[in-house]
Amino acid sequence: MNERIKILAISGSLRKTSSNTNVLYAVSSLKSEIIDFTFYEGLEHLPHFNPELDTDDPPSSVKDYRDQLKESDGVIICTPEYARGVPGVLKNALDWVVSSGEFMGKPVAVISASSRITGGDKAHESIMLTLEMIEANIPKACTLQIPVVGTKINNKAEIIDSTTEAQLKSVLESLVSTIN
Ligand SMILES: Cc1cc2nc3c(=O)[nH]c(=O)nc-3n(C[C@H](O)[C@H](O)[C@H](O)COP(=O)(O)O)c2cc1C
Repeated sequence: MNERIKILAISGSLRKTSSNTNVLYAVSSLKSEIIDFTFYEGLEHLPHFNPELDTDDPPSSVKDYRDQLKESDGVIICTPEYARGVPGVLKNALDWVVSSGEFMGKPVAVISASSRITGGDKAHESIMLTLEMIEANIPKACTLQIPVVGTKINNKAEIIDSTTEAQLKSVLESLVSTIN
């Protein structure tokens, strides 16, 4: 593939100073010579999922979200864990594509980042179940849990830990090779 690769980055945190969003910013500085990253900004504007709204003419925010997914060659998700699960806003976004199928066969990388030593393992496990159900293509090498994220990525979205840098590069390279 000679064209530039389009990756849609989705953070599961709405916080302006989110460490998960910073992980995605850090990832977007890697391989920028071949990848165009778009940050999905609409998570908080999606309506609560309601099957009765999931028609041929869905709400415009849902249509825009689905179009961005369709236009992407791959997706990278980075999520915190809330109350041992996936943040509601992110689960809501995934519910909106169960029947429309934008994730079907889509190469996806899944990262969870937490201030705690668990690395958001429960959220990671849970989102994997959902993404598998909607038939996303997630190679094992495209998954990563980042514990104690504040010691790995600083609040300027700089990677300050060499192991984490190598892990993020490896995740991205695996995603690119899955797309190609
Ligand atoms: C309401 C709430 C519940 C949380 N529950 C968990 C949890 O169950 N497991 C965990 O590892 N962290 C939990 N955390 C901590 C966040 O996952 C952690 O602070 C994370 O780094 C926040 O991500 P962000 O910086 O991208 O917003 C919780 C935080 C909040 C605000």
